[in-house]
Amino acid sequence: MKTIAVIGSGTMGSGIAQVALMHQCKVFLYDISENALQKAKNLLEQTLFKLVEKNKITEQQKNTYLQNIFYITTLEDIKTADLVIEAIVENLSIKKQTFKEIENRVSSECIIATNTSSLSVHSMIRELKYPQRFLGIHFFNPAPLMPLVEVIPTLLTDTSIVQQSLDLLHNWGKTTVIAKDTPGFIVNRIARPFYSEALRIYDEGVADIPTIDWVMKNIGGFKMGPFELMDLIGHDVNYVVTETVWKQMYYDPKYKPSHSQKILLDAGLLGKKTGRGFYDYSKPLPTEPTIKDNSLHHKIFIRILSMLINEAADALYYNIASKEDIEIAMQKGVNYPKGLLHWADELGLNTIYNELQSLYEYYQEDRYRPSVLLKKKINKQEKFFE
Ligand SMILES: NC(=O)c1ccc[n+]([C@@H]2O[C@H](COP(=O)([O-])OP(=O)(O)OC[C@H]3O[C@@H](n4cnc5c(N)ncnc54)[C@H](O)[C@@H]3O)[C@@H](O)[C@H]2O)c1
Repeated sequence: MKTIAVIGSGTMGSGIAQVALMHQCKVFLYDISENALQKAKNLLEQTLFKLVEKNKITEQQKNTYLQNIFYITTLEDIKTADLVIEAIVENLSIKKQTFKEIENRVSSECIIATNTSSLSVHSMIRELKYPQRFLGIHFFNPAPLMPLVEVIPTLLTDTSIVQQSLDLLHNWGKTTVIAKDTPGFIVNRIARPFYSEALRIYDEGVADIPTIDWVMKNIGGFKMGPFELMDLIGHDVNYVVTETVWKQMYYDPKYKPSHSQKILLDAGLLGKKTGRGFYDYSKPLPTEPTIKDNSLHHKIFIRILSMLINEAADALYYNIASKEDIEIAMQKGVNYPKGLLHWADELGLNTIYNELQSLYEYYQEDRYRPSVLLKKKINKQEKFFE
C-alpha cells in the first residue's frame, strides 16, 4: 500500500486525498488550520456516506477508507510517505518554506509534487536538496470527478520519477498529459481565449452576454457559455488566472484581461457563489439569444473558436505538449466537445487562418496574429492529423 501525504486540506487537497484514499492508499492530510482539517474531514465523511447510499461503494469500503486517512497538524507524521502532494495557498515563498520542511522529514526517494496552477514549477526547485524527485502534478477541480491531470517535469526531474508518477495517476484512474513548465501549462493557457475573446466581443458591443453564451453552447456545442462558466469558476479565480498568465507571458496582448471582469472582482460580484456576476442568480438565466441574427451568431462562433485553435496551434509550435496531449487536455480538463486541432482540420486550416488574418488586419493588433504553425501547415498543405 502506497502512503501519500497531501499538504493543504482546502478545495484541492481534500479532493486529492479522497482520490488517493479510494485507490488503496494510506493518506496523511496536513493543514496549518485545524478548522480546515475539520472541514475536510466532515466533507469526506459526507461524500463517502453519499457514495454508499448510491451503491457506488460498500459500507465496508467506506470504513476502510476512513481508517486509512490521518488528519495531521505536524509534518513529523509524513516521514513514511512515498509521495507528497502540496496543495496549499498559491504563494511562492510559503510553498518554498513548506518544501524545505517536507524535505527535512521524508526519505530521499519520496516524490514531492506541487499542485500549483499558476506558479512556475522551476521557481520552487532552487533550494531543494533533491530537485530530481520534484515535479508538478496539476489536478482539476473537483479532483475526484475531473479525469485530467497535467504532469509537469522540470529540467532536473528524473525520468523515472515522471514514470512512477504517471503510473500512480493511472492507477488512480486519471488521464495524464505531460506539459512544459510554462504559464497556464496546457489547459489554463489554451482556454484563455474562450473567456477573453468573448469579453472582447462584449466590450466592443458586438453582442450581449446571453447571445454570446447561447452561440457557444448551441453552435459551438460547449457545455457552458463563456460568461456562465466565468461566473461558475468565480471571478476571483478566473480573472486572477488570466492576469497571471498575461503578466507571465510578458504582457503579450493575446492574454490581456478585461475591465468588464475586473470590476466584478473589485465589487465582490464573484459569480454564482455570491449570487451575482455577469448574471443575476436570483432570476432564471436566459435561454434564448437576445439578438437573433444567424450570420452574427456564426461570426461570433468562428471568431472565438479561431482564437482557441490559434492558441492550441501555438502551444504545439512551442512544444508545450504533444498534439495528442493538447487534444486530450481540452476535452478531459475543461470538457470541450472536440479537440481543437481536430476541429481545425475539420473546418479547414485556411478558414481559421483567414479569420485570424482578417481580424489581425482589421484591428492592427498583435493579439490576432496567426500562429506560425498554421501558416507552415497551410504552406505544406498539411493537417494536424492525417
Ligand atoms: N481551486 C482550483 O480550482 C485549483 C485547481 C488546480 C490547482 N489549484 C492549486 O491548488 C492549490 C490549493 O488551492 P485550493 O483551491 O485548494 O486552495 P484553498 O484555499 O481551498 O486551500 C488551501 C489550504 O492550504 C492551507 N494552508 C495555507 N498555508 C499553509 C501552510 N503553510 N501549510 C499547510 N497548509 C496551509 C489553508 O489552510 C487551506 O486549507 C493552489 O496552489 C492552487 O493554485 C487550485
